[in-house]
Amino acid sequence: MDNTGSPKTHFSGSVANLTAKISVEDKLSQEYYDAVIEKVFKPSWYVLGNLNDIPTPGRFFVYDVPTFNMSVLVVRTEQGVNAFHNVCRHRGKKVVQTKCGWAQGNAGVFTCWFHGWAYGKDGALLNVPDEMAFRDFDKSKYGLVPIKVEVWSGLILAYFGDGEPQPLKEWLGELYEGFEDYYTRMERIATFSADVKSNWNWAMDSFSEGYHTVFLHRNTQPELTGKKNPMRHAPIIDLYGHTVRTSGVANPDYVGPPAERALYKHGRKLSPAVETDYSELPPGVNRTRYTPWFFDVVWLFPNFAILNGPHWVSTLMIWPIDKDHSRVITDHYARKARHAGDRLAQAYMRGLLVSVTREDLSAMEDVQYGLSSGALKHIHVSQQEIVLQKRYAFLEEMIKP
Ligand code: FES
Ligand SMILES: [Fe+2]
Repeated sequence: MDNTGSPKTHFSGSVANLTAKISVEDKLSQEYYDAVIEKVFKPSWYVLGNLNDIPTPGRFFVYDVPTFNMSVLVVRTEQGVNAFHNVCRHRGKKVVQTKCGWAQGNAGVFTCWFHGWAYGKDGALLNVPDEMAFRDFDKSKYGLVPIKVEVWSGLILAYFGDGEPQPLKEWLGELYEGFEDYYTRMERIATFSADVKSNWNWAMDSFSEGYHTVFLHRNTQPELTGKKNPMRHAPIIDLYGHTVRTSGVANPDYVGPPAERALYKHGRKLSPAVETDYSELPPGVNRTRYTPWFFDVVWLFPNFAILNGPHWVSTLMIWPIDKDHSRVITDHYARKARHAGDRLAQAYMRGLLVSVTREDLSAMEDVQYGLSSGALKHIHVSQQEIVLQKRYAFLEEMIKP
């Protein structure tokens, strides 16, 4: 217990090299940005989606990745999942058009509507209109360029670096086990994407602690704190190599507004309702069965977080666009709906979380404005913001010469 009345956090794992004082100027420099992209972002795995986004052969999505100026076509096949550069082998147009960096659909054949070249689910070039007009041309050598992709616990991860990646099992480490079919029980209910004027670090920082929620989200989520934990201290924080898992505390006296009460009474209790039945959770979610529990957060550095709730999951991806701009993508998932009550509950969560995220976006742009002025040489963060400390220590370790 500390002087706010909030309980102390149990930390496990390595706190070596962590510092509460974080320098600012270097994070805003082009040199730091270039080093981080080269040494951290390139050799990382990225969660692009859930198998349930593409449940049957032919279902696909296209995901534009601004950090690498890349468009990725991910398609379900009879054998599993394939990923390709969404770049036509003729003259390089995107084969599938994207809107706001995204597309999805169902197709057996992908046709580029510039000159009609057509590709199969395995990336093979199937048809070239007027093929006879091409000299010395071997169609079998002009399939879509593949991207390395793997599935972990129902989530689809891609690797964009050169050469062989670190095996996914090793890369995920302690988090590899423990989630079973948890993610594939969910269906996507919303996606929210925004390009913001903020360095990607400040964007990540904004989502890396519960401290801000007491104040920034006081209007959209007013009852998150309980009397026994007014500052929402996390009960458990597990610090691994480049991943972190935290358990987030709930307010046991949470009531919620009347509309929310009605909707969550007739459908599953989604965020921010408090669920006390943990019987269907896999061992990796709320691993100590802490109560009153709200949700866990799993961070996969450098730029991804998964919020694991009792019947819902939200993912958060921050893509650097350049050193002063980022793309923030949040995907919300809920347990598959059983009836109209569940659908209404999903609609409520969708609406609420979009409002909450807007508050975060506005804060990170204000931080960019403040820090880019040069007024502060460093920031000083608390033990409850240790995920920031851990991520900055990880970046330092990775980029040091
Ligand atoms: S660029 Fe795709 S068919 Fe020509
Ligand atoms: Fe927030």
